Amino acid sequence: MPGVVYLNGEFLPRERATLSVDDRGFIFGDGIYEVTRVVNGRLFEADRHMRRLQYGLRGIGIDPRITPDQIIDIHYRLIQENGLTSGEGTVYLQITRGAAPRTHYFPPAGTAPTVFLSASPFTPNKAQREQGATAVTYPDIRWSRCDLKTVNLLGAVLAKQHAVAAGSLEAVFIRDGVITEGSHTNVFGVIDGQLRTYPRSNYILPGITRDVVLELAVEEGINVRETPIFQQEIGRLDELFVTGTTSDVTPIVQLDGRPIGAGTPGPITRQLGAAIDRRLYAPAPSASSALAGAR
Ligand code: PDD
Repeated sequence: MPGVVYLNGEFLPRERATLSVDDRGFIFGDGIYEVTRVVNGRLFEADRHMRRLQYGLRGIGIDPRITPDQIIDIHYRLIQENGLTSGEGTVYLQITRGAAPRTHYFPPAGTAPTVFLSASPFTPNKAQREQGATAVTYPDIRWSRCDLKTVNLLGAVLAKQHAVAAGSLEAVFIRDGVITEGSHTNVFGVIDGQLRTYPRSNYILPGITRDVVLELAVEEGINVRETPIFQQEIGRLDELFVTGTTSDVTPIVQLDGRPIGAGTPGPITRQLGAAIDRRLYAPAPSASSALAGAR
């Protein structure tokens, strides 16, 4: 994979970016990450990503020694350096507790965190967003701080591999008899005309796309509640979809081999898919309209 990446203060070719084997991200999965969408050179919902990043870093006690504004500047420099000022892309960011001799407890206070960012082109799967995809359920074997976007992704890796081996797009986690979220997405369902998703808690990642979709649902006049979908209710689902930075709103038309509703994307899913596209692809505000807005 070619391209220019950022590592600990330097912009350099990807193949020259090297990390210590003592990095705690490598040894313990001791770090936080973010993935942010880029559309025509602009970051989608950058402030929300920065707030979630800070929440995660504080949650595991890492001082990144870099401000959110500096991090945003690095994102934009990578967008330029990697030719992503038109079309679409993603920026991956990872901050770990740095390199230090292996101890389970935190390293000495002076240990510098590792800050890594890279940007890549991204092509959304439009056919999948229109026609829908299949998913399978999987036990939620992850820990109980899923609200922290840590690089410890083994539960997600095993779940997604299970889905891929079954020929499906996504694994839908079940914990204590309810749907929590997907391996790398949040999950929404429609039962009796009501849109439902697992409430914000330590058992799910507070997805940026999830937040945007909740806002859009209110704007669109959709009856929405943050309340779990029980496993026993799966047979009653009229619609199901997943949301995420690289999924937008992707309809799920079959779960564990059984059709959801009519087995095609439902009306609420389509409405929210169209609404998120309008947000994602909204033209950049011109300088004059930005000024008018400021007045
Ligand atoms: N995953 N839930 C989990 C467990 C996730 O890993 C993700 C994102 C989401 C959706 O969050 P957002 O809308 O902020 O992307 C929900 C990223 C994209 C990834 O791991 O690549």
